[in-house]
Amino acid sequence: MFDRRLMKMCPESKKYIAGNVILQFLELCCNTAMILMIAFSVQNLYNKTWGLTDLILPAVMIAVTVILRFFTTKYAVRMSYLASRTVKRVMREKIYTKLLRLGTSYREHATTAELVQESVEGVEQLESYFGLYVPQFFYAFMVPVALFFLFGFGGSWKVAAVLLICVPLIPGAIVMVQKIAKKILSKYWGQYTKLGSTFLENLQGMTTLKTYQADEYKNVEMNKESERFRKVTMAVLTMQLNSITIMDFVAYGGAALGILLAVIAFLNKELALANVIFMILLSAEFFLPMRRLGSYFHVAMNGMAASDKIFKFLSESEPDEKTETVSDGNIELKNVCFSYDKEREILHGVNIVVPRGSFIGIVGESGSGKSTIASLITGRRTADSGKISIGGKDIGTVSEDSLMRQITYIGFGPVFFKGTVRENLLLADRTASDDKLWKVLSDCELADFLRSRKGLDTALAENASNLSGGQKQRLALARAILHDSPVYIFDEATSNIDIESEEAILSQISKLSEDKTVVMISHRLANVVNADTVYVMVSGNIAESGTHEELLKQNGVYARLWQTQSALENYGKEAV
Ligand SMILES: Nc1ncnc2c1ncn2[C@@H]1O[C@H](COP(=O)(O)OP(=O)(O)OP(=O)(O)O)[C@@H](O)[C@H]1O
Ligand SMILES: [Mg+2]
Repeated sequence: MFDRRLMKMCPESKKYIAGNVILQFLELCCNTAMILMIAFSVQNLYNKTWGLTDLILPAVMIAVTVILRFFTTKYAVRMSYLASRTVKRVMREKIYTKLLRLGTSYREHATTAELVQESVEGVEQLESYFGLYVPQFFYAFMVPVALFFLFGFGGSWKVAAVLLICVPLIPGAIVMVQKIAKKILSKYWGQYTKLGSTFLENLQGMTTLKTYQADEYKNVEMNKESERFRKVTMAVLTMQLNSITIMDFVAYGGAALGILLAVIAFLNKELALANVIFMILLSAEFFLPMRRLGSYFHVAMNGMAASDKIFKFLSESEPDEKTETVSDGNIELKNVCFSYDKEREILHGVNIVVPRGSFIGIVGESGSGKSTIASLITGRRTADSGKISIGGKDIGTVSEDSLMRQITYIGFGPVFFKGTVRENLLLADRTASDDKLWKVLSDCELADFLRSRKGLDTALAENASNLSGGQKQRLALARAILHDSPVYIFDEATSNIDIESEEAILSQISKLSEDKTVVMISHRLANVVNADTVYVMVSGNIAESGTHEELLKQNGVYARLWQTQSALENYGKEAV
């Protein structure tokens, strides 16, 4: 009934929970005092020992207790709020820090939609757990014991004992449904996050779905998933309703039994009128806190099921703390093996040397492992065996910050943020002046286009969808140049774009390679003819390496590829 991990996670909230319990208890004291006053007033009026004027004092005292109750209720709610606010803050902070610690590899652990749901919706659910359920848990056990003694001393021990015996039936019912509830709720949460992921994915891929007229099919698929979600939601509601019915039966049945016993005792002249009125008015209080605990329990279970997912994410193993910083130097891959999944090794002992300041080409057929090498050098993936070093330091020990300062990766399909061109460029160099930005834009042949729009204030839509493919790629290059890192990796940065853009980019890359280390991954061999060394990959192995001329002389894979590509290009020219 109680999740210690959650309490341990946020000890700060303990004081607010205690505050809430104390205030609720004070509220009960006010209630009891008020009922006591009413009971005695009724008795004295009934026995005619009091006149109407004698009612002034009790009336004033009742008014005072009502005012006191107003404040205790108000502050109890405030304490609930503070407890849940603290927990939400701490949990969100923990998720965020975990994400940062997992670094760029976080996507291996959870999808974006899952994370958003856990950190927003899941954490929200914890609000009821800490704000309502936990304080009620303590309060609900304190009240029957306190009332037992009050009833015993103030009336009949027999009635008090019967009521006290009935109370544990409610937590009994809770424990009984807990196992079933846990199972159903975990299913509910699983289905909920799954539906969220599918929804997000389909929404993002809407254009593609429309293109292939597959939206109808996806619609049917999503309907099926929604139906599964509806069913599991109904199962949750049915379970909750059933258990609440049982709890109501115990709570109100128990109170009725107490009242009946008190009335019988009164008729047998074992109890005075004031005592029986007191017991009648207060017997429901025996059960109500437990009953309320029962309803909070269902909300809290939801939070606990969500927290299971959060704890699972928080306990994911993290990469070791990396503290080394790199200075400019050679990049070396020695006998590097890598696989995405156990069944299939992608790189089988790759050896590459990228000397400082050199221009290196990596070519090879599609799927041979070129981009995989780039992801290893940029620290997005970790090699299974072998060694990767930068400036003499093992890449596994270098901090992400330092690595990102050292290497800029430009792939195909760069990411831009909604905002202005200036804002997107300043990501790479926060202090760059407008002049500097214009200079780089002009080098990347974007200046004229942007001048015809709103200059640096030209608005970019989400992921720069209002630019052409070639413009986007040139803007990505401009941003990369601004980053001014010692090493640049271009991974098919000129694929599928217009010839002018390609030429502009290639000429900038060639300029960059004069004083930077450049690794150029390309399927077009013409792009790497000037490289100091070209590595030719075949199925995860380096099949050949050397300069363009040396490789042609070898008359191997590279030479064959070169002949095919040259023939194709010449054919194109002849045809024109
Ligand atoms: N995230 C991934 N999970 C599992 N396998 C992957 C993943 N990314 C790539 N692969 C597999 O690894 C192999 C190498 O992929 P990689 O992207 O390195 O090829 P590439 O040489 O860059 O190809 P291309 O020229 O088409 O870009 C491929 O067979 C691919 O199926
Ligand atoms: Mg690739």
